Amino acid sequence: GLYAVIPAGGSGTRLWPLSRAGHPKFLHPLTGTDASLLQATVDRLAPLSDSEHVYVVTGVGHAAAVSRQLADVPEGNILVEPSPRDSCAAIALAAAVIARRDPEAIMGAFAADHLIAHSDHFVEVIRHAMAGARQGLLMTLGITPTRPETGYGYLQCGAPAGDGPVLAVEEFKEKPSYEVAEAYVKSGRYLWNAGMFVWRVDAFLAELSRQQPQLAAGVSRIAQAWDTPDREEVLGEVWPTLPRISVDYAVMEGAATAGRVGTVPGDFGWNDVGDFHTLGEVLTADSAGNVVVGNDSGAKPGTLLREAENLVVVPNSGRLVAALGVRDLIIVDTPDAVLVCPRERAQEVKSLVDELKEKG
Ligand code: GDD
Ligand code: MG
Repeated sequence: GLYAVIPAGGSGTRLWPLSRAGHPKFLHPLTGTDASLLQATVDRLAPLSDSEHVYVVTGVGHAAAVSRQLADVPEGNILVEPSPRDSCAAIALAAAVIARRDPEAIMGAFAADHLIAHSDHFVEVIRHAMAGARQGLLMTLGITPTRPETGYGYLQCGAPAGDGPVLAVEEFKEKPSYEVAEAYVKSGRYLWNAGMFVWRVDAFLAELSRQQPQLAAGVSRIAQAWDTPDREEVLGEVWPTLPRISVDYAVMEGAATAGRVGTVPGDFGWNDVGDFHTLGEVLTADSAGNVVVGNDSGAKPGTLLREAENLVVVPNSGRLVAALGVRDLIIVDTPDAVLVCPRERAQEVKSLVDELKEKG
C-alpha cells in the first residue's frame, strides 16, 4: 500500500476569521459536506491507503482535534511537532519514521487543505505517480495553469519518462514573480505543481541528505529515538535547530535540476482553497450564484438571502445571517469576528490579518 503522509500545519490566513491559528482551515468543513478538508483528504485516498498507512504531521495545538477527526488512524501515526518549521521538516520527519518501519515504502505527501472534485481520476493519477516513484523519481502532480498565480510552484515538462503518462520535469520553480509566471503560462510548457508528492522514502531521504544535510541528519536522529523513551528529549533538542523551509525550495527545485523529478499531468478538479472567493467558485451555488459554506458551529445553517446575488456566506456563529439586496460579497460570521468584503478583494484578507497582528 501507499503510505499517505499529510502535513497539516498552515494556518490559512486568507480564510480569516474562519481559519485561525487555533483552528486552521484543514479542520473546517469547507467541502460542501460535513467532512473537514483533512477528513476529505484521507477519504479520497482510501482506495490506496488503509488507515494503518495514513500518517499526519501536525502541531501540538492541533493533535487532539486531528485524532478526533481521524478516529481510525492509529495514534502512533499522528506525528506531533513541537513547533511549525515549514513543510520540509514535517515531510522529512514522516519519511524518516516510515523508513525505519518499512525501508522500501512508497509514500505520498498530500496537502491537508485542497479540494478535489474527481476522486476516481485523482486515484488513477496517483497510481501512475507510484509507477514513476518505483523508478526512483520524486513525483509531482501537474495541473494545467489558468492564470499567472504567484503562490504556486511551476513545472517545466520534458520528455516522457518510461511507460505511461509520466513526464520528466526539467525545471521546478517555486513561487515565481508575476512577470515570470505570466511568461510560463503563455509558453504553454509549464504546469502548476499541485503540492502533492509521491516517492520511495529512500529516494527522498537520499536527495534530502544531498541538498539539506543538516535537516536530513536531524530528522534521522529524531526518527531513531521515535519509538523509544528518548523521543521527547531528542525532539526538544533537535527540532528547533532544523531549517525552516518548504520542501519545494529545499528539495524539489534542486532535484529537478539534477533530473530526478517527474510529473503526471492530471486535471482532477483540483483547488487549493486559498481564499473565500475561490472557495465560492468550487462549491455548488444556488440559482442566484450564492454559496453557503457548510458550518461546524453546531447550529442549523442559518442564512436568509433575498435579492442577493453571487455571495459567499459562512454562517459559523450559530446566529442567523440575513442579506438583502447585495451582491458579489463575502460575509463570514464567527463568534468573535465578522468579515464583509467584495469577492474580488478576497486576497487582501491576508494583509488585513497582518495589520491585526501588528496591532497585537
Ligand atoms: N506539519 C506541518 N508543519 N505542516 C506544514 C507546515 C508546518 O510547519 N507548513 C506547511 N505545512 C503543510 C500545509 O498544511 C500544507 O498541507 C502543505 O504543508 C503545503 O504548505 P503550504 O504552506 O500550504 O504551501 P503553499 O500552498 O504555499 O505551496 C505549496 O502548495 C502549492 C499548491 O497549493 C507548494 O507545494 C507549491 O509548489 C504548490 O503549487
Ligand atoms: Mg497551500
